[in-house]
Amino acid sequence: MNGRTAILTSLVLILACGDDDDATTATDASVDAAPAVDAGPYWEPLDRPPLPAGNAPDATDEERYQGMLRFLWDPWDTEVLDQWPPAEFMLQLLEDEPEVFGEQFSEFGFIPDPNDDLPIGLKRGLMDDTRIHETCAMCHVARLPSGELWLGLPATELDIGAFRVAINERWVAAGNDPLMTDLQIAKAQQLGPGRQNAESSSYEQVVPADFPPYFGLGDRDAMNYLGTGADARTEGYFAIFAFGAGDPNDAEALVPFPPTSRTGPMVAFLESIAPPPPTPQEPGTVAMGEAIFERERCNECHHVDEPGEIGIVTYDYEGVERFPGDDPEFPNGSIATSRWHRVLIDGDESGGGAVGDEGRANLIQFIIRNRLAVRMSDGYRALDLRGVWATAPYLHNGSVPTLEALFLPPAERPASFERSGFTIDTSVAGNGNGGHDFGTGLSEDERSALIAYLRTL
Ligand code: HEC
Ligand code: HEC
Repeated sequence: MNGRTAILTSLVLILACGDDDDATTATDASVDAAPAVDAGPYWEPLDRPPLPAGNAPDATDEERYQGMLRFLWDPWDTEVLDQWPPAEFMLQLLEDEPEVFGEQFSEFGFIPDPNDDLPIGLKRGLMDDTRIHETCAMCHVARLPSGELWLGLPATELDIGAFRVAINERWVAAGNDPLMTDLQIAKAQQLGPGRQNAESSSYEQVVPADFPPYFGLGDRDAMNYLGTGADARTEGYFAIFAFGAGDPNDAEALVPFPPTSRTGPMVAFLESIAPPPPTPQEPGTVAMGEAIFERERCNECHHVDEPGEIGIVTYDYEGVERFPGDDPEFPNGSIATSRWHRVLIDGDESGGGAVGDEGRANLIQFIIRNRLAVRMSDGYRALDLRGVWATAPYLHNGSVPTLEALFLPPAERPASFERSGFTIDTSVAGNGNGGHDFGTGLSEDERSALIAYLRTL
């Protein structure tokens, strides 16, 4: 699935919807609507164990509980696409090279699953259990500092790029065709833990996207770092399509897109994932921090009590950052963090996100058929700050290691830092840590108070 995310986000932009602020739900009489919900129970029950996660839905909340099981266990039949070696080969690696791969691939940041011989997020197919594929949980489950498992927390230690390269190496050494091109290998080695390629596989430069936190997605309508997806269902469908289900289109797909009876409960689950409880802070400091948050006008973009108001902040290539409304040309303000995700969409002299016309037509068909809700984006969406204390590093490319560093002027932020043993060098294109200059002129006391307040969200 390397690189498909960017293709999807860029294609979404092709659907001009006239009004930048209002999302469009695609409908077109010439394309058949999705088939009606299957008869019988709304969901097909899946008989798999849950995870002992702090925010796992209760079994009495049947729909969300079933949705969680899909999120944890369902590769949506894409195991048959053979994007990974067979299960047997993978398990043999664990036996042959425990020092390299660890327990259930833990050396690459996977979290062992107490209910399986494969880790969280890498599962045998439900259709073909000799083959494996990632599930949605792979990048979207982690442990809190207390060690407690938490659904929706970004898997910040998982180095999916290094893992793919290591698996490919063993697979080729065993006499099989490579699973990756040389360019894909080179780019995968530059990701490090907690990040995935946003660009397409043939695009020359790596454009890393940090795994996002996703809590209370049902409260928000600006999904992904660009804000192009307008609800959790749309974003979830894109993710399943990116796995390869329904790809390239209904007529030619090797794996049909799953029916609503499988996807529906997972969407309900995604919409309801609870953020981790805030860490206790000294009340006086928090009150001071909240006042600074107000004074510095942070809420004009972040809307902590109304996540539904969070929108897209226009990107400014001139490097100018503005508050919403300060300049009539930038009603939502402007931002100047790393430009490379925008370049994928907007293009530059070296070309944009590299998406062919065929892919574009197929994606538009997918959007219309499934009535997905999408909008144009001219910037980056502001982050929902719930749970922000637990989701370092920060910004869409994971270029700033801590909240303390984010509220220093960009030139004073760490030029490089270690992320689970991998060095993020912010001078490399795609890793830029500039921009988001808001709140960077504070005194040391003010900064700690602001951060204490953020840790209560
Ligand atoms: C290999 C890692 C990986 C896997 C596996 C994965 N995702 Fe994601 N997901 C990401 C990244 C990275 C982003 C941010 C992409 C961007 O904004 O460009 C993301 C974004 C999202 C978002 C938007 C969240 C937000 O804050 O707006 C949703 C929803 C989502 N993924 C759902 C899923 C579902 C459903 C699956 C399974 C079909 C899945 N993901 C599998 C890495 C992954
Ligand atoms: C003009 C709108 C705007 C203002 C004002 C603003 N922000 Fe942001 N903020 C953003 C955007 C957009 C991002 C995401 C940028 C990116 O990913 O490149 C962001 C990212 C963040 C993040 C990183 C979250 C993460 O998970 O990576 C934090 C924390 C944050 N802002 C806090 C603040 C605070 C505190 C203030 C006030 C001092 C503030 N912001 C003011 C728009 C704004």
